[in-house]
Amino acid sequence: MDREVERTLEALLDERRTFAPPEAFAKAAILNDPSVYTEAERDPDAWWETQAERLDWFVRWERVLEWEPPHHRWFLGGQLNASHNCLDRHLAENADRVAYHWIGEPGEKRSVTYGELHEEVCKLANVLKELGVQKGDRVAIYLPMIPELPAAMLACARIGAAHSVVFGGFSAESLRDRINDAEAKVLITADGGYRRGDVVPLKTNVDEALTATPSIEKVVVVQRTGEDVPMQEGRDLVYSELVANASPDCDAEALDSEHMLYILYTSGTTGKPKGIVHTTGGYLTGVSSTHRSIFDLKPETDVYWCAADIGWVTGHSYIVYGPLANGCTSILYEGAPDYPDKDRWWSIVEEYGVTILYTAPTAIRTFMKWGPDFPRKHDMSSLRLLGSVGEPINPEAWIWYQEFIGGGRTPVVDTWWQTETGAIAISPLPGITTLKPGSATKPYPGVFADVVDESGRGVGPGGGGYLVLKRPLPSMFRTIYGDDQRYRETYFSKFGDDIYFPGDGAKLDDDGYFWLLGRVDDVMNIAGHRISTYEVESALVDHPAVAEAAVVGRRHPQEGEAIAAFVTPKAGREGDEDFAVELRAHVAKVIGKIARPHSIVFTDDLPKTRSGKIMRRLLRDVAEGRALGDVTTLQNAPILDEIRTKANSLQGDES
Ligand code: PRX
Repeated sequence: MDREVERTLEALLDERRTFAPPEAFAKAAILNDPSVYTEAERDPDAWWETQAERLDWFVRWERVLEWEPPHHRWFLGGQLNASHNCLDRHLAENADRVAYHWIGEPGEKRSVTYGELHEEVCKLANVLKELGVQKGDRVAIYLPMIPELPAAMLACARIGAAHSVVFGGFSAESLRDRINDAEAKVLITADGGYRRGDVVPLKTNVDEALTATPSIEKVVVVQRTGEDVPMQEGRDLVYSELVANASPDCDAEALDSEHMLYILYTSGTTGKPKGIVHTTGGYLTGVSSTHRSIFDLKPETDVYWCAADIGWVTGHSYIVYGPLANGCTSILYEGAPDYPDKDRWWSIVEEYGVTILYTAPTAIRTFMKWGPDFPRKHDMSSLRLLGSVGEPINPEAWIWYQEFIGGGRTPVVDTWWQTETGAIAISPLPGITTLKPGSATKPYPGVFADVVDESGRGVGPGGGGYLVLKRPLPSMFRTIYGDDQRYRETYFSKFGDDIYFPGDGAKLDDDGYFWLLGRVDDVMNIAGHRISTYEVESALVDHPAVAEAAVVGRRHPQEGEAIAAFVTPKAGREGDEDFAVELRAHVAKVIGKIARPHSIVFTDDLPKTRSGKIMRRLLRDVAEGRALGDVTTLQNAPILDEIRTKANSLQGDES
């Protein structure tokens, strides 16, 4: 293991306090008997069946799992519908229960019941059918955090069309690439959305993206901001007008358990994002099971808030499918945590009596930086459980979260998973597990995780290496859309075709607890979002005045990692501040603002091996301001000193 990882680990293990489940919490918890682990280990298929049985199936499955490595299929022969499971089956008893308390950033409030959401979804599903969308087609969705977003997803699911949600922060080019890869027929979008008081011009991006998207036939536009946006005759249609004229009756299609539910694009180690394919029965089983057990969800009384964006997998699984399948009441907040002030979240917690909050370490560290006075202004005694996701949570942030947000009473569940796993795979069960701040603790029942060395051998307690999953989960992705070869190579080749390699490093402590250590590949984790170094490099070299670029992640106090770029300008272009500003804007245009480099060092050359390969490892050392690793294969040593001198001036700029 490299020194960096060792150091992180030492710091993590310095915090040695442990937290057993509070007695009253454990007593009332849905799961409080550790035998659930042994049972699931003894017969994982039987365990997953009990979880699948919590859903409504039109036709019961004949076989739980078909595992033909590296492919796996679940609940074969079964038929169901995700939209039916999220809506219709709650109507008899809970049509009036609120599904979402929606809060717009400028201050509007709208509470949508299950009955109302069902009606909206049925109407929209009929609209999609009228627009020619059929079972198996793809629909792209590019919307802000408004109730129409989950409605659009469920309308697709209802008729068996796969949705591909594109995060509203992505640029026109990113949207275009995703639409083209999925060959989406219809796009559902909005005129704009609100973020930190500004309007995000979604429709402008759409118009730019759609100059080269031959598959798109129609665009449905939600009027969110009410701004005057150009509407293209014959292509662009107004959401509210279509829905107003649609019938509220629309049967949910009985779909095969393995029917594609959605595609969600995520970064890999190359420039081209991967279309992660999720199917219906296994995915819904996994997300509803984990959502209920890990958040100890009591749908009658809880007010649950996953403060992610639906454009990422966290939102798909834990704002839309998990919570709705479990019939609970969620918060859906459109905007930024510091608008109009830094206590916006806490005022929402107080006003709605939020009981469960699920967010990312990057947000927690930002709140730490803002200080405890903001949460202290509000009565947050309703909170009873906190969750964390997206990147390793440092023990200091864990303790702060528990203390200042959870009032020192709430368990904190640190949940490890990925776009690919679809649902949480490693996490405490809050009524059973003794917590160790900084550790995601144990695999979820039915999950067989291990930490192995380079040769694939288990490292055992106290050892470090690569995280692997030795058996598929029902919620796991089935393939990469249109590129099964990449699925095999990326995930099922390092340790054999029956071992899933997620790309993360991990350590097991003496109690067998898992400590996640971040990515071992060239994928960065920027504020909990996956961006590959290669994607940013491609965007940089796409600029006509850039000759060469290398990108690495470096540690950042709030964001987890920061993007550090090293750029060689073409002859005649000065590497000055103006060029840095221009390049940041260029990356924002090509990918989106989240991918803008935090720092750019201009250099005449990059450190390379004799065969011409850029030595990113050394650039990482430079970016972190630490001693250089092995330089024996370096071809052009003097350039490193030069880069180092320039990079030093960038250190310490982000406290
Ligand atoms: O490196 C791990 C990190 O986030 C990656 C997955 O990113 P993405 O697919 O965008 O999904 C994020 C939300 C599920 C993982 O490979 N990661 C996620 N959760 C944790 C984590 N690292 C450590 N601890 C976590 N709890």
